[in-house]
Amino acid sequence: ATEKSAVFIIFGGSGDLAHRKLYPALYRLYQAGMLKDHFAVIGTARRPWSDEYFRETVITSLEDFDDDKEKMTAFAQHFFYQSHNVNDSEHYIALKELAAKLDDKFDAGHNRVYYMAIAPRFFGTVAEHIKSEGLKTDGGYNRLVIEKPFGRDLASATELNDSLSRVFPEDEVYRIDHYLGKKMIQEISNIRMKNPTFEEALNSKYVSNIQVTLGESLGVEDRGGYYETSGALRDMVQNHIMQIIGSIAMDKPEELSAEAVHKVKTDLFASLKVLQPEEVKTEFVRGQYDTDNLGDQKAYRDEDNVDENSNIETYVAGRIEFSDDRWNGTPFYVRSGKRMPAKSSRIDIVFNDKVKDLGIKPNTTVSFLIEPEDGHSILINGIDYLEANQDFLKFPEDKTYFDNAREAYESLIIDILAGDHVHFTLWDELQSTWKYIDAVREQWDVEEPDFPNYLSGTMGPEAADTLLERDGNSWVWDD
Ligand code: BG6
Repeated sequence: ATEKSAVFIIFGGSGDLAHRKLYPALYRLYQAGMLKDHFAVIGTARRPWSDEYFRETVITSLEDFDDDKEKMTAFAQHFFYQSHNVNDSEHYIALKELAAKLDDKFDAGHNRVYYMAIAPRFFGTVAEHIKSEGLKTDGGYNRLVIEKPFGRDLASATELNDSLSRVFPEDEVYRIDHYLGKKMIQEISNIRMKNPTFEEALNSKYVSNIQVTLGESLGVEDRGGYYETSGALRDMVQNHIMQIIGSIAMDKPEELSAEAVHKVKTDLFASLKVLQPEEVKTEFVRGQYDTDNLGDQKAYRDEDNVDENSNIETYVAGRIEFSDDRWNGTPFYVRSGKRMPAKSSRIDIVFNDKVKDLGIKPNTTVSFLIEPEDGHSILINGIDYLEANQDFLKFPEDKTYFDNAREAYESLIIDILAGDHVHFTLWDELQSTWKYIDAVREQWDVEEPDFPNYLSGTMGPEAADTLLERDGNSWVWDD
């Protein structure tokens, strides 16, 4: 692997995301030799930590992944801590000086990665200070990495985007949707390219319906505060589910470059049929979990930092349509819920009987299993595609292919260092997906839901089944 050089500035460097995802990902790049001598990581956050203490926390975050103490210690020598108040200009100047010093020390090529692993309400403030205190470098690149949520509706997303774009033009911005870092999602484009018959069948002529499920067995855990401002629709549908649909339903790009892929994705999202208020009632279902059938689990309304009368949904199912030529008339059924019977992220493509004209068995279902990670696989009518032995879907040949995949964050950081936007979300796409989500949310906000309406450990409210039965269809994943 070619060595990369950069100084990373991690806002929120003492936080959970940084320790759980970013430091282990950076460490794997270090093991692979992609990060070696010419990089430094500055962690910033409010608490007054020393470099030594910060390094200890970094090493602790790696212990689940490696036991090479010496290597971890050497890696941690590239980490520095700067205590920081996001509103204090002085602190940005200190940060700028430290970054310049480390750039010299490690010969990091004047490249900067600014990583926002902080609460979203600070994104704009930090960006403005990066500009006013002149943190951006000349002579190398400046890249801004931003975690979700990107706004909570179109208006706030637009405001956020305006404040960021005054500092970082779109080509310097990397918006993370960690689902786009998952190997199975990334493979979809390759699978489409390598299987012409499958690709030929991917349109409303041959597809009865497409289902995207992001089911989770856990509840909101300790994220009640955040979740109360979000709900399943914003937390999972606006971003992950839409991007998954994008990968499977976009027109075939001319090539797999960022430009070509985003062009077809943007076109697809622009053709989302935004729902009228009356349609929201028939096309979307929301739910909130209760305790389980034994009364052992906490109902959502009893979780920490959750309002006892909360109307926030922990489950959503919907029927989405596109008006483009390729998909007009094909329903995309989507659902995501907390406290479902199992963790399962999957795409099920249900073909109709016309596919026999292409040599595919009528009513074949192709399923991409994305999560749980060790369950990665592609099924044809519920059978592993290697055993199903149907000619139209061949790839990859080896089952271990997915097992050896890089973890999402590792793969996304490699892309950031390479300046490749293909697996990140662009502003044009977000505008369309927010517009769609806003229409649902606005209707929900004026109607009182009857919550809680499903037991923990179940498949969600019954209305989610009726949604498909109405069309003569049913969910492929049904516990
Ligand atoms: C996050 C959501 O974006 O994705 C969480 O905020 C959710 O609520 C998580 O649990 C699911 O991701 P994964 O990779 O575990 O399926």
